[in-house]
Amino acid sequence: MALRFHVHTYGCQMNVHDSQKVANLLHHEGMEQADDAGDADLLVINTCSIREKAEHRLYSDLGRLREWKRERPGRVLGVGGCVAQQEGDAVLRRFPHLDFVFGTHNLRLVPALVAAARDGTRATRVDETRSLDRFDLPERHPGFESGSPGRAFVTVMEGCDMFCSFCIVPRTRGREISRPANGILDEARALADAGVVELTLLGQTVNAYGRHDVRRGRTETVGTLAFAELLTALDAIPGVSRLRYTSPHPIFFDEALIRAHAELERLCPHVHLPLQSGSDRVLERMRRRYTADDFRRLADRLHAARPDLVLTSDLIVGFPGETEADFEHTLAVVRDVDLVDAYTFKYSPRPGTAAEDLPDSVAPEVAQERLERLQSQVRDQTLAYHRGRVGGTTEVLLLGASRRDTGALSGRDPQHRVVNLAAPPSGDAAPGTLLPVEIVDATPHSLIGLARPSAGPEDSLRDGLRLADEPRRMPAVA
Ligand code: SAH
Ligand code: SF4
Ligand code: F3S
Repeated sequence: MALRFHVHTYGCQMNVHDSQKVANLLHHEGMEQADDAGDADLLVINTCSIREKAEHRLYSDLGRLREWKRERPGRVLGVGGCVAQQEGDAVLRRFPHLDFVFGTHNLRLVPALVAAARDGTRATRVDETRSLDRFDLPERHPGFESGSPGRAFVTVMEGCDMFCSFCIVPRTRGREISRPANGILDEARALADAGVVELTLLGQTVNAYGRHDVRRGRTETVGTLAFAELLTALDAIPGVSRLRYTSPHPIFFDEALIRAHAELERLCPHVHLPLQSGSDRVLERMRRRYTADDFRRLADRLHAARPDLVLTSDLIVGFPGETEADFEHTLAVVRDVDLVDAYTFKYSPRPGTAAEDLPDSVAPEVAQERLERLQSQVRDQTLAYHRGRVGGTTEVLLLGASRRDTGALSGRDPQHRVVNLAAPPSGDAAPGTLLPVEIVDATPHSLIGLARPSAGPEDSLRDGLRLADEPRRMPAVA
């Protein structure tokens, strides 16, 4: 019987996609996917170390998995991802029931590590490489299921050379490297042929794509492009209806990328644009390389290029030395740039980062209080934006059952807002398809919609969207 594997993922989209790559490799080895660890012979945990809590979760999981190993002899347990890269062999030494550890550059070694483990050899492979080989992964195996019908991630660059003072990622993902454009375009075409309608380009600083090659005059030899050129090439692939990218860094928005948002038909009107803080003092100590006003100007340019564009962001409160006045600057920028949503975090010191030993740490109760005020303002802004959309029409990529509203179908609109359907659509609307929808209500978490009858060919939905039904900008929040 085929070996059954399960991959459990923590962390960001990069990790979700790496887990998909590992699952695909294991399918190519003739293994089958198990829905949960209880049914699996091989369990791979893909880890995140962005905050201390994420790292600790792994250690408590690993403790509990001693029992999982004991239950069935011959079971294999592996750990990959950012904690694996950061801690290396120490994890293997600390947990004797763990069989292998692999780093963020070593996904391709997983089948060999599994084979070695089955022969009784425990191993750690966390070698960092600058080789482009890591992008050479096999095509989607027929047995592979992404779990996300109609959508797919495509890696365009990996690593990060920014070294923001709070962030562990440059240490866990290594140096910035861009993937040759041909490989990206071939993968995108294959995905479109397989029925994928929405592509999300991935990279730690995705819009820095190709910049090192441009600077070193290597674009021809390596085969990279400027990021806006890459988007333009992808926009021309038949079958790709939506293009997204995440996460961009504010300093890598050039004129061409802003213009792409005005001109490219399929580039979605949503940018997840991490701000982190609205205080220039804090931004400087975070080494973010922009000011609050730079960020405001960038937001204005993006909104001017594409009036229905939605901005979402990442924000950190309680960075060392953050005063009440600094925090209020963050609230002000969040309001000024019309953020529609944000991931909000309390600063967590990470080993080996420049901010680790900064003085003037913010008291936990002060950080908690700021987090709650920030979240409350963000919630108000989300709701105001959602309410402004009621009465408009949109196009929803159906994804499956709603997480909150059991029974309802749910999907995402071009702005990446969750849309739950108030009634089942007539006809054969299946997950992975695009559906015209009228927005009839709004909550802080989602838009509520009703499927519209399909538009005729002479009245295509896209034209309708552009000309008549541009979602309104969020009204100012009092
Ligand atoms: N590459 C992306 C972000 C990757 S990490 C970028 O540059 O924006 C995702 C988010 O986690 C960050 O945007 C930041 O808001 C948060 N984060 C990173 N390190 C953190 C830390 N030490 N404490 C709290 N939040 C952190
Ligand atoms: Fe971390 Fe900064 Fe790199 Fe983003 S740009 S991954 S926050 S170091
Ligand atoms: Fe976590 Fe690594 Fe992503 S630290 S957020 S999984 S890059």
